[in-house]
Amino acid sequence: MKRITINAERSYDVEIDIAWAEEFEKVLASHNKVLVLVPEEFANSIEIATKASSGVSILHLPQGEAQKSIAVLEKIWDKAAQFGLTRSDAIVGIGGGATTDIAGFAAASWLRGISWYAFPTSIAGMVDAAVGGKTGLNTSAGKNLVGAFHSPNGVFIDLSFLETLPLRDYQAGMAEVVKSGLISDVEILNLLSEAKSNIAELIERSVAVKAKVVSSDFKEGKLREILNYGHTLGHAIEKREGFKWRHGEAVAIGLVYAAELSRDFGLSQAEIELHRELLTSLDLKVSYPSGAFDELFGYMSGDKKTRGNQIRFIGLKKIGEPIWLEELTSDQLRQAYERISS
Ligand code: GLY
Repeated sequence: MKRITINAERSYDVEIDIAWAEEFEKVLASHNKVLVLVPEEFANSIEIATKASSGVSILHLPQGEAQKSIAVLEKIWDKAAQFGLTRSDAIVGIGGGATTDIAGFAAASWLRGISWYAFPTSIAGMVDAAVGGKTGLNTSAGKNLVGAFHSPNGVFIDLSFLETLPLRDYQAGMAEVVKSGLISDVEILNLLSEAKSNIAELIERSVAVKAKVVSSDFKEGKLREILNYGHTLGHAIEKREGFKWRHGEAVAIGLVYAAELSRDFGLSQAEIELHRELLTSLDLKVSYPSGAFDELFGYMSGDKKTRGNQIRFIGLKKIGEPIWLEELTSDQLRQAYERISS
């Protein structure tokens, strides 16, 4: 087992390579009542683990991004009220990034904030969504525009969940692993050549990158924005695709776009090509239709990093060295887009 501590609004551990059922029993033992949020696909195994416990209530959520909606949140609040969930009780989210995002926001908003625990079951959840205390949901205005910073009390990563993870989710989740290597821990990029056999170390290293950043800038004053490398265009693509793409599939294209934007600020042609090679080796797309720029530009203007009329991006001076690109013209944005368009 590997433990990585995050010191944010409170200190908590991310425990990697544990057996989820054992940790889950410990959570149940430390609260009077626990509301478990889990998508249908895991429902049976969770019920086996909790059938003897009277202090547990389980709510099944829809799959994927569909669970991050106001309607689902209302169902969670109704369930919490019926169950009598108090301030000394807890919410547990077991599932992918969408589940831990909505579980965290339900915990942040119920009674103005109760404890919660994340049991991520996908790569994206393990290395990104469940770690760092960003919680939220999607609205018609865009992805994650409503949310709260609310740290979990613990994150428990059982790698055996990956044995049944669909290939598409594995590949998409690896885009966040690639991102962690590009912005900080370049050894990750070497380990990717044998990704399947190095998966435990890749997850540990990616969590360590995130833990370091979040521990020094929990509320995204500035440094935490580096975790958004590739996400400005990525979120715009997700919105244009009606949230039907996996987050990582859109981020992969966004990473190549951010690299192309970084060309005038020091990133070499070879380093830009490395982005393409790493992502295509995971079968992720690295280009997007040429006619889509104007629509994507509109969506990017609503990005959380935008200040006034200025869309801001995270770029790279070189691999492992992020920079803030704050004064790009719309011509620069369009020219970089032409280099990634198909
Ligand atoms: N997913 C980016 C962050 O947690 O800041």
